[in-house]
Amino acid sequence: MPKTGSGLSRRNLLMLAGAGATSLALPFPRPAIAQSKPVKVGLLLPYSGTYAQLGEAITRAMELYVKQQGGKLAGREIDFVKVDSEASPPKAPKLTTKLVEGEKVDVLTGPVHSGVAMAMSKIARETGVPTIISNAGANDLTRRLCAKNIFRTSFGNSQVGAATGMAMLEAGIKNAVTFTWKYAAGAQSVAGFSRAFTQGGGKIVKDITVPFPTVEFQAALAEIASLKPDAVYSFYAGGGALKYIKDYAAANLKASIPLWGPGFLTDGIEAKAGKAGDGVKTVLHYVDDLDNPENKAFRAAFKEAYEIWPDVYAVQGWDTMHLLDVGLQGVGGDAGKRDELNAAMAKAEFKSPRGPFRLSPAHQPIQNFYLRELKDGSNVYIKTVVEGLEDSMTGCRLAS
Ligand code: BEZ
Repeated sequence: MPKTGSGLSRRNLLMLAGAGATSLALPFPRPAIAQSKPVKVGLLLPYSGTYAQLGEAITRAMELYVKQQGGKLAGREIDFVKVDSEASPPKAPKLTTKLVEGEKVDVLTGPVHSGVAMAMSKIARETGVPTIISNAGANDLTRRLCAKNIFRTSFGNSQVGAATGMAMLEAGIKNAVTFTWKYAAGAQSVAGFSRAFTQGGGKIVKDITVPFPTVEFQAALAEIASLKPDAVYSFYAGGGALKYIKDYAAANLKASIPLWGPGFLTDGIEAKAGKAGDGVKTVLHYVDDLDNPENKAFRAAFKEAYEIWPDVYAVQGWDTMHLLDVGLQGVGGDAGKRDELNAAMAKAEFKSPRGPFRLSPAHQPIQNFYLRELKDGSNVYIKTVVEGLEDSMTGCRLAS
């Protein structure tokens, strides 16, 4: 309930009016101050550690989106409050509370890491603050823990894993070793992959994990060499992915055992991977050379602003602000009207650089997935693996 300048809530004042203060004109005008103050958007993102580059890309695209709208969304300035999540789940409750209660943000966004997202979203559900998840793929957030104020502009971990499994089957791969970081995102990614791959007749030779965020891959690579699977499926991202791709090439495995994974394996590190990355095949809801006008304009604007090309994380940041823009337009810029803001965002449909953007009843993107190959420092489109892939929404009561 927004407070008026007098310290009384709008509902209290309306009740007073109903109790005999008939000289008060209704409808009660919203206080000018609430409409002229910037909308505060709290960002809980990694600005240090292995996922720092991901947090930076999301932030840059969010800022660029607002700049392109003349610095305002629905007539309101946007004030970004940035907090470094350090991709650390234990720190997430305190940092989220700092944004929600300390900074009194109108809208919460981030994070990158699924464990951080679980903690952040608990506070979002308890406080009702409208929340847009701009990366973390933790399945439950749009399944059993879905909520009317929680939205996602990215993906579900299993959703990407399943799409990658389909593409590997289509490529004729019969068996695979999975090798990933041992935490929620890796486990869910492998589970989604394994289900789709084995249902289509594929066989999992072995699941290998290393703790997050270790980059000690040598022992596992030696084991993979001895197991000789048709291919390897790996979930890594950011700085860890770069080290992994280089180690995989240095271990001379690339030619004999093709490396596959969700596109996080190569996004944002394409150029730095150099020759080591050539031939790595991935599946994702974005690819650099998607032939649509939104992608072309977005890429040109991002390159011009930051002198680097955008990646999937930047697209998700861009779409986070686009979704918020649609929501704020729906409430005339009044972020205090949470129910109406949530309702407007739930119905949003727009053209994203990734292709058409719309949400399931659980607030999860229903989206296309593309097969890409890393060539000369760029992820190149090969084909569309699946169009409009929905997540299961299992246990989400919004969906019933
Ligand atoms: C996750 O923790 O959900 C995640 C992190 C980086 C890339 C993709 C997913």
